[in-house]
Amino acid sequence: MRKVTLGRTNVEVSAISLGTWAYGGSNMSGDKSVGWSGHNDTAATQALIRAWELGINHWDTADAYGSGRSEQLIGNIWGTVPRKDIFLATKLGWVMGPYDHFYEPEFMRHQIELSLKHLKTDVIDLLYLHHCMFGKEGEHLDAAIHVLRQAKIEGKIRFIGLSDWDATAILKYAHRVKPEVIQPYRNVMDDDYATSGLKDWVDRNDVGVAFFSPLKHGLLTGKYTDPTTFPEGDFRVNVPEFGNPKIIKRCRDGREAMEQHFSTHPQPILHGLLDSLLSDTPTGCVLLGQRSPAQVDAAAAVGNTMSDKNAEWVRSLYQT
Ligand SMILES: NC(=O)c1ccc[n+]([C@@H]2O[C@H](COP(=O)([O-])OP(=O)(O)OC[C@H]3O[C@@H](n4cnc5c(N)ncnc54)[C@H](OP(=O)(O)O)[C@@H]3O)[C@@H](O)[C@H]2O)c1
Repeated sequence: MRKVTLGRTNVEVSAISLGTWAYGGSNMSGDKSVGWSGHNDTAATQALIRAWELGINHWDTADAYGSGRSEQLIGNIWGTVPRKDIFLATKLGWVMGPYDHFYEPEFMRHQIELSLKHLKTDVIDLLYLHHCMFGKEGEHLDAAIHVLRQAKIEGKIRFIGLSDWDATAILKYAHRVKPEVIQPYRNVMDDDYATSGLKDWVDRNDVGVAFFSPLKHGLLTGKYTDPTTFPEGDFRVNVPEFGNPKIIKRCRDGREAMEQHFSTHPQPILHGLLDSLLSDTPTGCVLLGQRSPAQVDAAAAVGNTMSDKNAEWVRSLYQT
């Protein structure tokens, strides 16, 4: 697996890194589905071990994933996988506790301690602010930054990250947070990373970047033949494209085209969808959700860059 330097952290991580949102299983937040159905602890544990064996050394989780279940699953692996081999990232911000806003300092400190406990580690390599909802006027931001900087001084975290689904929101706050790594949403269908100006900011400031949901939660692979629904507790019920026949067809057509175009590659679809995101990203990686050893094996076959021309061709299949 090719390694990339995660910006000015100077840490070498796998170009295809591991996302573990699904390891939290089905989950609700109020009446909203926020988890993943179909989770299996045994398969997920085997996937972690396989990832380590194949050099996928950057694992991403969050306090919110299964209300700590994903972090705990990772914390239980250190008897088999040496902790020092893994660059471990987690996030806080979606779990609110008894407060009426995100990022209450006292609760943030509580969540950091809980993540350390769940992950069975003395230090979190990278801790993200999970989203950019810092209050109407951004009034909770300064206190949130202070908590993270203090945790860094105390040796509880090594690097600070900033994430959001909206690249513009990351850009709005990045100059104040000064994150060493950002985590934006990016895939070949939904891509405001470059157009928002965030890419330029990343390049200018040598910031590490980890793109999340690079397969649009599996949809882009073209493996769905028909509009699909998911059970309650699976956040994919909130993604309308899974029920849209036109989008399903576009993904199937894209699959067919890439199978032909990259026919000599062992994983033509993943190569097209993932490596095209890396072609303009010298300081970054993709965070791919891998739920089983088979999905890790497939992921381990990609992670190399591709020509700009091929990357443009792949994007043209998905963007209208
Ligand atoms: N910062 C944030 O706000 C944020 C938000 C979302 C995600 N993330 C991070 O990014 C990670 C990845 O995002 P994601 O989980 O939303 O989606 P993703 O990486 O776009 O898709 C992952 C899903 O695709 C399917 N898949 C994986 N490999 C496959 C293969 N070889 N062939 C066919 N299907 C395959 C699996 O689901 P099935 O097997 O069920 O099809 C897997 O769970 C998360 O785990 C999390 O760490 C962060």
